[in-house]
Amino acid sequence: EDEVYQRGLQFSRPPFTFKSLDWEGLAMQRMSAESTGYLVGNAGTGETATKNRKAFERWSLVPQRLIETEKLPRLSTQILGHRMPVPFAMAPVGVQRTFNPEGEIAAARAASDQHVPFIMSSASSASVEDVAAANGSGTRWYQLYWPSNKDYDITRSILKRAKDAGFSALFVTLDTYVLGWRPSDMDNGYNPFLRSDRVGVAVGFSDPVFRKQFRERYGNEIEDDQGLAAALWTRTIFPRYSHSWEDLQLLREAWDGPIVLKGIQSVADARKAVEAGVQGIVVSNHGGRQTDGGVSSLGMLPRIVDAVGGDLEVFFDSGIRCGADIAKALALGANMCLVGRPYIYGLVLGGEAGVSHVLKTLAGDLQLTLHLSGIPSSAPEHLGRHRLIREDE
Ligand code: FNR
Repeated sequence: EDEVYQRGLQFSRPPFTFKSLDWEGLAMQRMSAESTGYLVGNAGTGETATKNRKAFERWSLVPQRLIETEKLPRLSTQILGHRMPVPFAMAPVGVQRTFNPEGEIAAARAASDQHVPFIMSSASSASVEDVAAANGSGTRWYQLYWPSNKDYDITRSILKRAKDAGFSALFVTLDTYVLGWRPSDMDNGYNPFLRSDRVGVAVGFSDPVFRKQFRERYGNEIEDDQGLAAALWTRTIFPRYSHSWEDLQLLREAWDGPIVLKGIQSVADARKAVEAGVQGIVVSNHGGRQTDGGVSSLGMLPRIVDAVGGDLEVFFDSGIRCGADIAKALALGANMCLVGRPYIYGLVLGGEAGVSHVLKTLAGDLQLTLHLSGIPSSAPEHLGRHRLIREDE
C-alpha cells in the first residue's frame, strides 16, 4: 500500500488512472456493446444498484486528531481460517474471457500477487484446474451455482474437483436461480452462458460425470458443445426452481470445508443461516443485477450484523468503489468485503497488471483513509460503528 503512494510521488505512471470512479467509463470505451451491457447492466431500472451506491453516502467517517502512531494502519484480518493482509476479496464474476482474452487466468494471477483471495465463479471461462495453477499458493474459494437435486452427482463431481484443486471454501450463491430482468442484455440479445467457447469449461465440459449424464439424457438434442452449454445452464444450473434450507445438508455431505451463503439480504435469512450451521454469509444483492426495487445491501448490513454478527463470518458486497467504502462496510460490522466490477474494469483496461492496479489502489486508498481518520487498524476495536455517523439523521 505504501508502495502505491510512494510510486505516485516518484512520478512513475500507473497503467491507468487512480480515480476509481473513472474506471467504468474508460473500460466501456474498450468493450463491445454486448460486453458493456453484461458488465455494467443492472436489473430493471437500476434502482437497486443506485441505492447500493447512495447508501454509502449516508454514512460518514468521523476523523480523530492527535492519535499517536508510528506506523500506517494494519489492514490484515483473519477470515475462514486464513490470515489475509487486506480485508477484501475478489467477488465471483463469470465469463471473464468476455473482458480480456486471458480472463480468469489473469485475475487469479493478480490475486495471488497481491495476496487477495480469489473467488472463482461457476460460470468461469477457465477450468478449476487452470485457475488453480494460475493462482498458485494464493487463497482461493469456489462459488457454486447449485445444480438441481436430480443432478447431485454432478454437484459432487464439481465440488470434488474444486477441492482437489485447492479451493478451500465454498460460496453458494442463492440469488441467481434464474438470471435477473436485465434490459441491456435483452436489448443486445446477449447471453454469455449459452456460448460454448466462453462458459461450460469451469463447470461442465471438462467434467466427466456431466458429459456422460447429459449425453445420455438429452443425447439426440445435444449435437455439439453449443448444445451442451445451453443444456448445462437451462437444465441444471438455472432450472427455474430453487433449493430449500434442508437441501444444504446435501452440500455439507459433498463439501468438506467452510460454506458461505451468498446473497443474503434479510435478518430472517441470516438467522436461518446460523441455524443451518454455515460458516458465513455474504450480505449481497449481486450488485443490483438480480432484483430491481430491492433494498440497498449496505442498508441491511448493520441490521444483519446486529442479529448474527459473532455467530458466523459476515462478508459484504454490492457497490464498493473506493477505500472509504470498504472502511464504512467494515465499520458497520462486515468481516470482509468483496469487490466485483472494479477489478473487472482493471481486467479490461490492463489484463493482469490492470487487476493488480485496482487491488493496490483499493488497499492504498483504504490505508490512507484510515490513517488520516486517526484509525490505527481495520480491526473491529478500532474500526467500529463508533467511527461513523449517519448524515441524514
Ligand atoms: C457477477 N456476480 C456474480 N456472482 C456470483 O455469485 N457468480 C457469478 O458468476 C457472478 N457473475 C457476475 C458477473 C458480472 C459481470 C458481475 C458484475 C457480477 C456478482 C458479484 O459476485 C458481486 O456480488 C457483485 O459484483 C458485487 O457488486 P459490485 O462490487 O460489482 O458493485
